[in-house]
This record gives sequence, structure tokens and C-alpha cells, in this order.
Amino acid sequence: MRTLELAGIHVPVIGQGTWRMGEERSRHTKEVAALRLGIELGMTLIDTAEMYAEGGAEEVVGEAIAGRRDQVFLVSKVYPHNASCLGIPQACERSLRRLNTDYIDLYLLHWRGEYPLEETVEAFERLRESGKIDRWGVSNFDLDDMEELASPTCTTNQVLYNLEERGIEFDLLPWSQHQRMPVMAYCPIGQGGSMLANSTLKQIAARHEATPAQVALAWILRQNGVIAIPKAVRPEHVQLNAQAAQLRLEIGDLEALDQAFRAPQRKQRLAMV
Ligand SMILES: NC(=O)c1ccc[n+]([C@@H]2O[C@H](COP(=O)([O-])OP(=O)(O)OC[C@H]3O[C@@H](n4cnc5c(N)ncnc54)[C@H](OP(=O)(O)O)[C@@H]3O)[C@@H](O)[C@H]2O)c1
Repeated sequence: MRTLELAGIHVPVIGQGTWRMGEERSRHTKEVAALRLGIELGMTLIDTAEMYAEGGAEEVVGEAIAGRRDQVFLVSKVYPHNASCLGIPQACERSLRRLNTDYIDLYLLHWRGEYPLEETVEAFERLRESGKIDRWGVSNFDLDDMEELASPTCTTNQVLYNLEERGIEFDLLPWSQHQRMPVMAYCPIGQGGSMLANSTLKQIAARHEATPAQVALAWILRQNGVIAIPKAVRPEHVQLNAQAAQLRLEIGDLEALDQAFRAPQRKQRLAMV
């Protein structure tokens, strides 16, 4: 698995998302197995949040990483309504209990809420000092939010980024690359939706003996400083996603994708789901 450096530690360029996991007891065993398979295949960065199934996804992750905590780079997120000096340590304790661990590698503010950023940052820093988290970051922050945050200890910004949603390429992505702050791309394969049926994407995939989802991931990873976190429960999807890190697109492929999915020509408001 290819890696990149995030605040002094090497993490895989493809991790595993967990949104929609933990919602149905009947899918629990398959979800745990998928995450374990992903870890074995090198996708050791796991992204979750207290929001996902209201803690249910963190419980799935907790079971999946039991006995292999040291191999995993664990990312979780706090709700904005918990992002206060009082709320963050309590939310973090609840997440730690569900994740069945005593530290989170990277703790993110899920999106910007009503608490002042200074207060959230102070609470994150206190958690870092106490060893409950190793690093912190943000999610769904546009460039103006990042400039306002202006924190040298923020280690990532997790945002929507895929072939259909290229808005960050205009400003946020170059800014992040200049700051040497990796961006974490969520919904990298468009939630498995219509994007994957695009004819150009399908043609390129056929040429590489790959799948459209793999090409979509390789396209995200064509540049430095970006981590993709696809979510997959089906084992064949997990395997294909891990293999996508090896797929190198050619100039002609990238040009064709630029025709099919246009790069932004002006500032676009940050897209979110
Ligand atoms: N910070 C935020 O606000 C935010 C927002 C959204 C998402 N996220 C994070 O980002 C992660 C990824 O986003 P997402 O889950 O919304 O969407 P996604 O990863 O783009 O797509 C997931 C869907 O694609 C399918 N899939 C996975 N691999 C595939 C492959 N190789 N070929 C075809 N289909 C494939 C999955 O099916 P199966 O599961 O059936 O295999 C699932 O239905 C989330 O799980 C979450 O951790 C963060």
C-alpha cells in the first residue's frame, strides 16, 4: 500500500470509511469482516464518527480492530454540538469506550458548528496533552474556514472530493498542498452511484482491466497530499479498492476524464453530503 506523511506519521493513501455501518445488527458480522480484510490488505486507516449509527459504526470498528489496534490509524469525529471545552472530552470518552481503545490517532471536528473555533481547538489540545488523541483536524471546512482557523497543529481537512465534485481543486486543494496538510477525500467513488456508469470512466477502466471505481480512486490519488477513504462491505469491493492504489492513469486518461468531468473554472462553495 502506498503511504503519505500526515503530521510525521506514514498513513495509507487508501483507507476505509464506515458511514452506514452499525445500522443493522444483521450486517454486523459482514461489516467487521470487511474492515478486517481491509486492514490485512493495507487499508489500515479507518474513518468513523460518533454520528454514524449514533455510535454503532464505532462499535463495529472497535470489534474489527480488537487484537490489531497497533496496526490501525484510527480517525473519529466529534459532532459540532459536542465541540465545546466541556463536551469534547465527554464525547471522546464515549467514542473511546465504543472503539474499545484508549486513544484515537486523529480526532476531527465533523463540521463547523456554533462553538468558537478557539474553544474547540483548546479542547482538542487538552485531549492531545492527556494522550486521549494523538492529533486533531477538521472536516467540511472551506478555504475561508481554514484561513480563520490558521492553526499549525490542525493535521487534515476531510472533504467531499470525487470526479463529480471537483470544486476544491480551484482553491482549497492547492492551499492545503502548499501547507503540506493532507486532504482526506470522502465519497471518493460517489457513494457507488451514477458516476460509476459514466462511459468515459468505463472505457478507461476497460483499457486498464480495472473497474470504474478503481479508476475513480486512482484519479483522486494522481496527486500528492490526498487520502481516499472509500467505504465497502462487500469483500470483492474491499479487495478492488486496496488494489486501486497500484493503478496509474496515463496523461490521455486524465485528459479524457477532464472532458467528461470538468475542473472548476471559478470558486465554488464547498460541496458536502
Ligand atoms: N466528513 C464527512 O462529513 C463525511 C461525509 C460522508 C462520508 N464520510 C466518510 O467517507 C467515507 C466514504 O464515503 P461514502 O461511504 O459516503 O461513499 P463512497 O465510499 O464513495 O461509496 C460507498 C458505496 O460504494 C460501494 N463501493 C465500495 N467499493 C466499491 C467498488 N470497488 N466498486 C463499486 N462499488 C463500491 C459501497 O458498497 P458496499 O458497502 O456494498 O461494498 C457503498 O455502497 C464514509 O464511509 C465516511 O467514513 C465523511
